[in-house]
Amino acid sequence: MPESRVPRRRRFLVCEPRHFAVQYAINPWMHPDRPVDVGRAQAQWKALVDAYRAHGHTVETVEPVPGLPDMVFAANAAVSVGGRVFGSLFKAPERRRESLPYDTWFKSAGFDVYRPESLCEGEGDFVPAGRWILAGTGFRTTRAAHQEAQEYLGVAVIGLTLVDPYFYHLDTALFVLGDEDGAQNIAYYPEAFSPGSREVLARLYPDAVIATREDAMAFGLNSVSDGRHVFVSPGATALIDQLADRGYVPVPVDLSEFHKAGGGIKCCTQEIRS
Ligand code: ARG
Repeated sequence: MPESRVPRRRRFLVCEPRHFAVQYAINPWMHPDRPVDVGRAQAQWKALVDAYRAHGHTVETVEPVPGLPDMVFAANAAVSVGGRVFGSLFKAPERRRESLPYDTWFKSAGFDVYRPESLCEGEGDFVPAGRWILAGTGFRTTRAAHQEAQEYLGVAVIGLTLVDPYFYHLDTALFVLGDEDGAQNIAYYPEAFSPGSREVLARLYPDAVIATREDAMAFGLNSVSDGRHVFVSPGATALIDQLADRGYVPVPVDLSEFHKAGGGIKCCTQEIRS
């Protein structure tokens, strides 16, 4: 089975951490008094981009804007499916101005961009998973936004309730591994979800990879998989072993400076699905 995992080339949008910092606290990971090493952050980020390119993926960049320290978390600005781009409306006023430069980037790349009326944070809470989109709510993105996204994208949205503030975005608690025998499979941390949502996930994904709290706290679920290679936080050691057992090829990339802002690999990566 290991040899059968086939990678699919992806197109990613990222934003250089030139102005990255922790200046406010909008999740439990953020402590403005704890310094960020910007040089180290830049080097870690570059290693991620290099790893994507080395594995055949296309990486495009949006110009960072001064005064928007979280703009490096490209995943939060939009979610795209089949060439349709559903924009963002950030919950925190500090992040609201990030939407415009990303919208502008998408428009100049030839996409129409839908401006949502309800609070939502792109791929942070919307995770396209083949025939449907898994969508988080509870901290940032609202149920109303799930409805809006389903209406605009024309793809069924399955709402999941997040309950642990350390896992405030769906992409901190779950990621899509890829196609396994004709259906998408996922990895996730069950305790991040309400009991009902846990049951939904267990029914939809009986063969999911179940991660431990340690893996989740190491940002192991904030991973990007191309169907074969999984770009994953090196601290998620038990998850890495499970992925290798399942025939995936873990590609460890350390983004520890970004963990100080509550983000990891996936947060820094917006996938463009045309
Ligand atoms: N400091 C950012 C925030 O709290 C981190 C965003 C991380 N992004 C993500 N996709 N989980 O909004």
